[in-house]
Amino acid sequence: MEITALNGFKDILPEEVGLWRQVEETARAIFARFAFQEIRPPVLEKTELFARSIGEATDIVEKEMYTFADKGITMRPEATAGLLRAAIERNLLAARPLRRLFTIGPMFRHERPQKGRLRQFHQLDVEALGCASPLIDAELMAMGSMLLERLGIKVSLEINSLGCPNCRPAYRDKLLAFIARRADQLCADCRRRSQTNPLRVLDCKNPECRAQVEDAPSILDHLCPDCAAHFAAVEMGLTDLQIPYLRNKFMVRGLDYYCRTTFEFITNDLGAQAAVGAGGRYDGLIEQLGGPKNTPGIGFAMGMERLVLLLQQSQEERSAVSEADVYIAALGEKAVAACLPLAHGLREHGRRVAMDYEGRGLKSQMKQADKIGAAWVLIVGDEELAGGQAVLRDMRTKEQRAVTLDVAAIGRVVGKE
Ligand code: HAM
Repeated sequence: MEITALNGFKDILPEEVGLWRQVEETARAIFARFAFQEIRPPVLEKTELFARSIGEATDIVEKEMYTFADKGITMRPEATAGLLRAAIERNLLAARPLRRLFTIGPMFRHERPQKGRLRQFHQLDVEALGCASPLIDAELMAMGSMLLERLGIKVSLEINSLGCPNCRPAYRDKLLAFIARRADQLCADCRRRSQTNPLRVLDCKNPECRAQVEDAPSILDHLCPDCAAHFAAVEMGLTDLQIPYLRNKFMVRGLDYYCRTTFEFITNDLGAQAAVGAGGRYDGLIEQLGGPKNTPGIGFAMGMERLVLLLQQSQEERSAVSEADVYIAALGEKAVAACLPLAHGLREHGRRVAMDYEGRGLKSQMKQADKIGAAWVLIVGDEELAGGQAVLRDMRTKEQRAVTLDVAAIGRVVGKE
């Protein structure tokens, strides 16, 4: 009998590997711009590491971990705990006041598989260790946004604060009192959660529970002065960087180590699995895991399966509406004349080419190219013409490269026969 793969464990096939590499290479390039260094911790860690950091009462630790109980070890359900363990154990925090690290690799959670949710999945995970400034919070969100923009993935950024051990307990009591008045209307999970981790009631997906907590007190109204100032500075940083965001008072995250800033990159294009990436601040965690005192930290992780799915979807949409492989944007009379035989030659080589002969400005031609879903735009101005060169722009990644003004050279880049 044929042996099949485990449910929720996916083979990444040769035709998919290109997109995976694109995601990984783009991520590496962006992380390098922000001076992050790679680290590769192992996939197995002591179970206690996850119980102590993610939290005993979380879904991940309670129900989703792949644990070898007799050996006391677990396959990592996320990257943060192992990365911090490595940074502490290998003394990486002593050399620099702010250590920027990233890791890329598989994680394991025994969840119910569905589109965008697997049991083995991959994360791009970044952590900035040792910086308490709210500006690093804004910077990390800007880095995530830059990566997604570079991949051509549209998301909205949602942010919240979870306060700190000074202000959260009072808020928790207030929320508990609110929940107690509506306990009868909540699902069984929420009634149980309200005992162990009442904040999680706020992000229950059940529509009836959602309706019940609609007017629950917001933690943002109950922050201590330090947490409120931190949150205000994060918002200011995002505004300065022109990163659009929304406040989401219901965001609590499924891991216990967070304090203050939390954030999620949300898409509307993946059904129920809306979070493409998520993260937040965890100021007490490094110390709690035996690291140096007062070492704050913040990070986020993006799910690579979700990024690849979104790229696949946008490619399909693009090819469904695409009327041309390449749009030739000739700027000026001379360029228009020179491009006529070029367009013809490309068509003879089987490429779909669009061009108008008006020689209008670049902006209006780019708009036209976008409208017809051209995969590439060839930009030819007088200057390029004189040098026998042109600029080819990839409309999805927005990357530009120089090419020789030659049918064969351009044809090689802009598609297959
Ligand atoms: P998380 O929200 O549990 O956070 O996961 C981060 C991202 O990993 C999610 O937004 C999602 O894209 C992806 N992901 C999670 N579970 C699955 C799954 N079963 N299948 C596919 N993709 C999944 C963390 O893991 C934190 N460690 C993030 C962090 C880093 N916080 C601070 N530093």
